[in-house]
Amino acid sequence: MTSNTIKLIHKNEIIKIYNPDPNETILNYIRTKLKKTGTKEGCAEGGCGACTIVLGELKKGNIIYKAINACIAFVPTLAGKQLVLVEDLVSDDGSLHPVQKAMVNHHGSQCGFCTPGFVMSLFAMYKNHSFYEDDVIKDSISGNLCRCTGYRPIIDAAKSLNKISKFDFFKKNHQLFISLLKKIKHENIVISNKNKKYFAPRNVNELKKTLKQYPNSQLLSGGTDVSLVVTKERKDLDSLIYMNSIDELNYIKKNNNYIEVGATTPLIDFESFIKKYFPDFAQILKRYGSIQIRNVCTIAGNIATASPIGDTLPLLLSLDSQIIIKDKDKTKILPLNGFFISYRKTKLKKGQFIHSIRIPLLGKNIFKAYKISKRIDDDISSVCASFNVELENNKIKKIKVAYGGMANIPKRAVNCEKILLNSSLSDNTINKAKKSLEKDFKPITDARASKKYRMEIAKNLLEKCFQEIKQKKLIRINI
Ligand SMILES: Cc1cc2nc3c(=O)[nH]c(=O)nc-3n(C[C@H](O)[C@H](O)[C@H](O)COP(=O)(O)OP(=O)(O)OC[C@H]3O[C@@H](n4cnc5c(N)ncnc54)[C@H](O)[C@@H]3O)c2cc1C
Ligand code: FES
Ligand code: FES
Repeated sequence: MTSNTIKLIHKNEIIKIYNPDPNETILNYIRTKLKKTGTKEGCAEGGCGACTIVLGELKKGNIIYKAINACIAFVPTLAGKQLVLVEDLVSDDGSLHPVQKAMVNHHGSQCGFCTPGFVMSLFAMYKNHSFYEDDVIKDSISGNLCRCTGYRPIIDAAKSLNKISKFDFFKKNHQLFISLLKKIKHENIVISNKNKKYFAPRNVNELKKTLKQYPNSQLLSGGTDVSLVVTKERKDLDSLIYMNSIDELNYIKKNNNYIEVGATTPLIDFESFIKKYFPDFAQILKRYGSIQIRNVCTIAGNIATASPIGDTLPLLLSLDSQIIIKDKDKTKILPLNGFFISYRKTKLKKGQFIHSIRIPLLGKNIFKAYKISKRIDDDISSVCASFNVELENNKIKKIKVAYGGMANIPKRAVNCEKILLNSSLSDNTINKAKKSLEKDFKPITDARASKKYRMEIAKNLLEKCFQEIKQKKLIRINI
């Protein structure tokens, strides 16, 4: 069954949007069609949090609430979800939500522009955690910028939530919302609005058919890269195939040899899973965009974007990861090394999609990764480095080194690896390996860093990695 009508829950009812413009952002829809202007537009590129809304989704009989940036999400992606806006937090009798009360009591509301976004991020935190430690609070609001005063009263407001009851309007109406969400049928969505098309297949077979029929379509997952074509470049996306309604691809599984991540798995889910196996991977993901971004974006999207500063890419390269690519008839398993051809170009052909990513599990290896950016949170890397090392009797038996931000593609440092392989872990080896990075990379100067800084940082990160290994600091805490 297919439908061109988006059904979602807002307040206590199912609302329908007939054949929407597939390029209209949720933010625009909220402000111009629903006439709810509490949600603001700041940057229109996912960077400031002024547009934060919360979406509820049915998962295993429960509703999971997630903060997202409404400025970079398209209206049809609302299908089957519960839309929660800042106006919806106030109960019918006019009483404020506990999060709003806390903001008032602690003078956390400083200007009308950033406050609604902060409130929604704190609301998502309130729904997702039972205790709000400093880390949880800071992570929850790291995607919300205040450009004038400060965060202390907001953090105080968040801390005060530890002392109040967790019973709110949403808990009271939990069963009602579940039954409404269950009433919305999971149909394939097909929209044709003027010259724009949008498809949201519900399973892999349907995706394959759609891709075969419309091979020039743009795949859309979290949309945290794709949507900026509309909001920043002001271009139209004529044909979109939305991946993230394919539940079949939203999985993480593990066997003795590898971890496999389905293409539509949100990064935030991968972040909590990978912590146990590669703590440094999780540390890098903590600093990847914001919670709003990580709630929707995917590793598959990061790989297909092929940005030289995509943060998962050097990590996946040094871990010798593989990607599983499919089209209508075939499945291919490719090593990620070699997948990036030139600036933002990959081996992916028309009609193909990334099905999943396989990350080998290591034996005795040490895995380390470092991200250098201008800001700690919510910023893209200047340089990202990743090392996968196996030592035996102080000799390097296996080594994979990869960098982002050092070339036009994320890339292994093969000359450096040659110097390190089978060498003893001495200062002399490390110095030679640092020097060899000059053969591997010719970085450029841009807004994030100069070429000189990049090379210096790349060398220093290599030094840091091996000094930490020598000092047996095998797992890094924080940055
Ligand atoms: C505010 C902000 C902060 C960010 N911070 C970071 C950061 O810190 N580090 C970082 O690396 N990136 C960052 N990004 C970039 C972006 O979030 C990532 O590249 C993200 O992983 C993209 O995933 P997505 O699911 O949103 O992809 P989308 O935007 O949906 O798609 C990106 C590309 O991948 C293609 N694609 C998507 N899924 C598939 C698939 N299954 N098969 C084949 N092709 C596919 C799309 O067609 C498109 O070309 C940031 C972006 C924003 C807006
Ligand atoms: S308007 Fe800045 S994140 Fe959306
Ligand atoms: S108080 Fe709103 S931007 Fe600073």
